[in-house]
Amino acid sequence: MAHLDHLLRYRDLIDDWSAFEAASTRPLPRVLWANPLRCDLDTAAATVARLAPQAQRVPWTDGAWRLPDDTPVGSWLSYRIGWLHAQEEAAMWAVDQLELSPGQRVLDLCAAPGNKTAQIAVALQDSGLIVATERRRPRLAKLRFNLERLGVSCAAVVHADGNRIADGVPHFDAALVDAPCSCEGTSRKHASTWRDMDRYRASISQLQTSLLRKALRLVRPGGVVVYSTCTYAPEENEQVLDSIYPEVAAIEPLAIPSGLVTTPGITEWRGRSYRPDVANAARLWPHHNDTGGFFVAKLRRLDGGDARALPPTGPGSPQVGPVPQDWRRAEGSERDELLAGWEVAFGVAPARFADHALWQRRSSGSWWIAGHGVIPDVRWGNVDTLGLRVQRGRKPPTQLSNPFLRRFFRGARGSVVELASSELVSRFFARETLDATGPTSGFRVVTARLDGQTQGEAPEVLGRGLASGGELRCELSKQDTGNVVV
Ligand SMILES: C[S@@+](CC[C@H](N)C(=O)[O-])C[C@H]1O[C@@H](n2cnc3c(N)ncnc32)[C@H](O)[C@@H]1O
Repeated sequence: MAHLDHLLRYRDLIDDWSAFEAASTRPLPRVLWANPLRCDLDTAAATVARLAPQAQRVPWTDGAWRLPDDTPVGSWLSYRIGWLHAQEEAAMWAVDQLELSPGQRVLDLCAAPGNKTAQIAVALQDSGLIVATERRRPRLAKLRFNLERLGVSCAAVVHADGNRIADGVPHFDAALVDAPCSCEGTSRKHASTWRDMDRYRASISQLQTSLLRKALRLVRPGGVVVYSTCTYAPEENEQVLDSIYPEVAAIEPLAIPSGLVTTPGITEWRGRSYRPDVANAARLWPHHNDTGGFFVAKLRRLDGGDARALPPTGPGSPQVGPVPQDWRRAEGSERDELLAGWEVAFGVAPARFADHALWQRRSSGSWWIAGHGVIPDVRWGNVDTLGLRVQRGRKPPTQLSNPFLRRFFRGARGSVVELASSELVSRFFARETLDATGPTSGFRVVTARLDGQTQGEAPEVLGRGLASGGELRCELSKQDTGNVVV
């Protein structure tokens, strides 16, 4: 098959070339995982079973399903409101290797479009801090959108070249380098368009090496750095690992879940040998698990060096480093007033925000909610978002953003309209004007009971509406609306 010719160089590494060829050209199943920040696993499972009866459980992890490649999951309401997320299966196990626990500080050096940032947030139970850096500005929008949709509040998205992060910042507990690469493992999604592969590999390998070295300088001694790519090339994988001095980091065995077939890293390639512990890394080939191709390695920083770790997170924890110029944190009575305003208007208790800090961006006046004490000194980049946006603009936060409402306002008691049928929910998302009873006009938190939600439970928040003259208007963003499958 001509479009796989560029992969013939790996023929000796592949146990069954014709199975590899066949798998590499078949459509890739769609894989969805349940987002525990937004719904429980049983509810997500019931939704998937109802909307895609052919769905099969991913055998090596809980809460994930394989669906036919043409399943239009983007139009599912449950997807739009962040209960579910689609990700390439081969890429899903890298984050598991970071050994994360809630409250930790994690650097995600190559973050867009944010699939793994979201997985990190889930592993942290949306506490602690993720600094998610991305060099290419146009890719920030997708990163932002995914994190908002999934209700992630513990991430600071920073527009920066990962190589330029100052070495002096206090150290992270863990870092992920999901490096830019030649993407050979994505042949099931895109045919290769590379012409001068050798030249490209040489230059990308240098970038990958410098990003990995940077990550190792930024984690605390004992901290884990996971290096991953979606490519097979040893020049972009084992050779990059081999550039790390053994006294700086050990390459450790991976926790490979049962049911996932991998092959070990190779210690020799085209006359060049690599440090022996690269064998602890692993490759995924498409024909072994019916996925794309992927490579993962786990490095543990060894040197005593500078052992400064970041202080623990939580209410009252200190700001780490100087606050980025454009941001200020609402403290004391200012914070109390904001929270009291939400309690009066919507019946949402201030205690719900106890684990979060409120921030204002000076230039736009917009308000944001993020974990406590979160931002490290990021003079090397631009803080693009800080947790979830509460509200655009300078007005006091009464026109609250949809991602913020969905994440924090379930169970609100004031200014709520509950849509009583799937038909009304569909019409709301189609931006139709609905009938609204009630004497007052103004902002509404629009809710509905979705799959598996009983009368005793608080209904799900769909987003913002505006009531006026007996009518309810949809105030969702254009990205959110359109035809939805409820
Ligand atoms: C493989 S993608 C990351 C995928 C992402 N981790 C996910 O799971 O959705 C690599 C990303 O690194 C970004 N990138 C490339 N060079 C970079 C650099 N020097 N610093 C930060 N990001 C970089 C690319 O723009 C690209 O978005």
